[in-house]
Amino acid sequence: MSLPLFAAYPALASSIAHQPMALLPTPVEPLGGNGKGFSNAWIKRDDLTHNEYGGNKIRKLEFILAEAVGQGKKRVVTFGAIGTNHGVATSMLCQQQGIACTVFLFDQPISKTVQQNLQLMQHYGAELIYCGSLFSSVFRYYFNQYRLNKECYFLFAGGSNVAGTIGFVNAAFELKAQIDNGEMPEPELIVCPVGSSSTLAGLTIGCQLAGLNTQVKGIRVAPAFLGPFPACTTGTVGALMKKTQQQLEAAGVEPKEKWKKPELISDYYGEGYGVATRAGELAQLSMLQQGIKVEQTYTAKAVAAFYDELAVASGPCLYWHTYNSQDMAEQVEQVENKKMPVELQAFLAG
Ligand SMILES: Cc1ncc(COP(=O)(O)O)c(C=O)c1O
Repeated sequence: MSLPLFAAYPALASSIAHQPMALLPTPVEPLGGNGKGFSNAWIKRDDLTHNEYGGNKIRKLEFILAEAVGQGKKRVVTFGAIGTNHGVATSMLCQQQGIACTVFLFDQPISKTVQQNLQLMQHYGAELIYCGSLFSSVFRYYFNQYRLNKECYFLFAGGSNVAGTIGFVNAAFELKAQIDNGEMPEPELIVCPVGSSSTLAGLTIGCQLAGLNTQVKGIRVAPAFLGPFPACTTGTVGALMKKTQQQLEAAGVEPKEKWKKPELISDYYGEGYGVATRAGELAQLSMLQQGIKVEQTYTAKAVAAFYDELAVASGPCLYWHTYNSQDMAEQVEQVENKKMPVELQAFLAG
């Protein structure tokens, strides 16, 4: 099947790089559960985007790595928290594409998922550079020796650049095709977690372009500001959307008189990035009863918001599930923790 975005806009195929890597389309399913509005609940299974390691990053990387390879790059340099899912997905697909991968890492509360992801990045051959704080990580991402090397592709945390955002514009067209095929009714609302923003940015643009009357709400799970600098605000999401819209318009998409603005909800963030909330923990338990695994940093907080939305919605609502569900035990077993940077070993040891 041709890419849904290119099917709608054939001109894009000649100017936007894309390399199939994901298992698409991901299923849409009724979610189930007990409570007000649950008969309206649907889930988009982006946990199944890849047969080894799924989640929302794979969609972005189809466009990002195709762009990097097209530009002759030999290394992807990125950053994220020590438990970054983006780091795992990027190092896995880089390894598959024969590209090196470097990840600058900052602290977050340690959990089983966090430790596992650190091991997985090692398993996939990433160079891990531990920086401690988020600020120091960002600083070292912008100021390091790789900046002098033209063969390095610099990828913002979470895969949130224009190419990654286009992955989620395409995702909205994929959903539109599933609605047209009768796989689910048109949702009045989509809820997704927001970290680095391209999932929300791409879905907001994509739903509008695909002609869906669906509101997209992003649940902020990352700090809004980094010191004085905005990091995850409607302004930063809007800026990413604008750059993406400009690239799409330059490639042949008709300009919209009024592009939709992003909707970013901050009420579920709690005490910090990666810090569990009570509502998130309850959502996690409830999702487990439906056979869906969510984690505390992103998806538990988004599901907590989704449940509250269901209670007041009048039509179908779609939770966009972004967290990998493949079992990674085998890959984790093959990793020797001793090879981890010593600072990280010390951090994990407490
Ligand atoms: C499981 C999961 N869900 C959601 C997100 C947030 O997506 P985005 O970075 O596009 O805002 C991330 C980002 O790392 C993630 O790992």
